Amino acid sequence: MFKNNTRTLVLGAVLIAIQTISWTPIMSLPQGAPETVCDTMLPFHGGGIPPSTSLPPFRIETSSSVVGQGQTMRVDIVGVPPGLSFGGFMLQARNRNSPHQIIGQFNPSSDSRVKQMNCESSVGNSVTHSNTSPKQSVSLEWQPPVDFLGEVLFNATVAQAYDSFWVGIPSNTVQVVRRDTVGSYPQTTRLPYVTPPPRGPYTPQTESPMTTQPQDDPFYTDCGRSKTCFGFPDGCIETKSCKSISAVMVRGDVYEFEMKSLSSGAAYIALGLSEDAKMGDDLVTECVPQNGRVSLYSSYTSGAPNYAATRANVPQNKARLIESSVIDGVIYCKIQREVITQVSSKTFDLLNNRYHLLIASGTGLKENSVGYHDIGRLPSAAPINLAVVQDLSGSSTLLLRLHGAFMVIAWIGTTSLGIILARYFKQTWVGKQICGKDQWFVWHRACMVTTWSLTIVAFIIIFVEIGDWSSERNPHAILGTITTIICFIQPIGALFRPAPNAKSRPIFNWLHWLGGNLAHILSIVTIFFAVKLTKAELPEWMDWILVGFVVVHVIVHLIYSIAGFSSDRQQAQQVTAFQMSDMGHHGMRNGHRMERNTDAPYSRFRKGLLAAYTIILILFVVVLVLIVVLAPIEDTFNKLKSN
Ligand SMILES: *[C@@H]1O[C@H](CO)[C@@H](O)[C@H](O)[C@H]1NC(C)=O
Repeated sequence: MFKNNTRTLVLGAVLIAIQTISWTPIMSLPQGAPETVCDTMLPFHGGGIPPSTSLPPFRIETSSSVVGQGQTMRVDIVGVPPGLSFGGFMLQARNRNSPHQIIGQFNPSSDSRVKQMNCESSVGNSVTHSNTSPKQSVSLEWQPPVDFLGEVLFNATVAQAYDSFWVGIPSNTVQVVRRDTVGSYPQTTRLPYVTPPPRGPYTPQTESPMTTQPQDDPFYTDCGRSKTCFGFPDGCIETKSCKSISAVMVRGDVYEFEMKSLSSGAAYIALGLSEDAKMGDDLVTECVPQNGRVSLYSSYTSGAPNYAATRANVPQNKARLIESSVIDGVIYCKIQREVITQVSSKTFDLLNNRYHLLIASGTGLKENSVGYHDIGRLPSAAPINLAVVQDLSGSSTLLLRLHGAFMVIAWIGTTSLGIILARYFKQTWVGKQICGKDQWFVWHRACMVTTWSLTIVAFIIIFVEIGDWSSERNPHAILGTITTIICFIQPIGALFRPAPNAKSRPIFNWLHWLGGNLAHILSIVTIFFAVKLTKAELPEWMDWILVGFVVVHVIVHLIYSIAGFSSDRQQAQQVTAFQMSDMGHHGMRNGHRMERNTDAPYSRFRKGLLAAYTIILILFVVVLVLIVVLAPIEDTFNKLKSN
């Protein structure tokens, strides 16, 4: 009804409206009056205008994070940015574990703009405005009861105008402790306690500048207590030695993020919210010092192959800079982000979704973007509910990489070689046995025992690492398990194989051949699927290397088969000649073994091809293992390029 009036009229009407409609009736009512308002803190009973859902432009500051029972502390309501004024407010301390329980008491204020409220028949447990004059800040003194121990939060409703007000603005958690133990608690003191509190525009203090001893950094004080901290190098929170650190603190619907970079030369520090711990499709908050001030940007990342973080098309008004500083190259910023941020078709819902934190920092900027994260980057190990305070560690990929490397060595390397040996080398190195066993068999067994051991170890490793069945929709896990099972029973079958001339020996031979080849084919398919696993961070082009290997392997098989046919034919023709001529030479020396004493034809060719194939296999294995171990390999390239 005011919308067509002039600005002054609206303002006047607003002030009168707030004055008369909002909380004044509560004041004038006897104690025990509308408890509903005391609890809901809604200025209007079922009023038509709902509270604003955007980020509140006001903050509740507490003079300390720990207070002794019955001791006094200060609470301020201030605008963000400082100086932004408000007309009405209502403030209470609530029990953190029971948010509807009002705790403690506000001292009667000398500030004529402030009035005490008596909610739930308790004198002065809430405060409100006594007039609607514009206020840039309000300071209050509050005392916890002498018999309360635990955590409280201040809960405020602040009205900027008749139709714009915020309900449930929370403060930091304040711990109420026994009076004699206050000193032993780490304090995050924002404002020294002073009486009377200063009036006028409130200037928020930035965190104290970095001291030379990092353990004094107040950033770490609430880590794991009221905020979840994450930084690199991994494990640095415990030792308070992070080069870059971030923190998430959630109070009600307010999502607050802090970032700090302590690396000299840092041009930015950024925190991404990622569904997969991998760069790409992440919502990033960037703090970038520019002309002595910190600028805040939101960006959206694209993944392989064109890694980038673009600010275009990302709403910039969903996050707000609360505090920031750049002191001696140390970048600090604190921001609040709305629960929902929509980037094109993707919704980031901080309340209902889980995200990995991805912290990154670098020395360069690009036009409208941050540069490569050459100082460092680290994704958190698991996606988290941001509201749950926890200790986070970076995602360790050591076991993942070992699993990949072992499987590549086993199935691209030793299995391929072992199969070729068993298939085509039974009539090579004839008579040159090792410890009474044919050479082909000794080498075949060596290859396959290696495969078996690596596979079993890699299989165990991956279950230790993932701790569960892979949640990715990818057949890698199931195919890999089948392959491992076949691989596991293959040598057991071989151990109990029938004697060479037993009737059942052909069945064993056939089963052993089938098991080996089936496992080999399955394993290669499984490795192809590994490339698609997000966790593995493998490049798409690894497919082509695998295809290259398959082609080489098939060609080698073909050549050996063709050579085998013609060798068989030659051998058949030579049988007569062989019996006559060889008797005289070798036959005399080796007596009973003379018939097997000579390799099948093309033996030198077979050995030559085997040597070539072995070298090619080693090259394939080395390249693939490097890709797996250095994953994401593009990152490694970029790092080399930027150095
Ligand atoms: C603040 O008060 C509102 C209304 O009763 C409540 O819904 C909310 O949970 C409270 N917040 C805190 C942090 O106590």
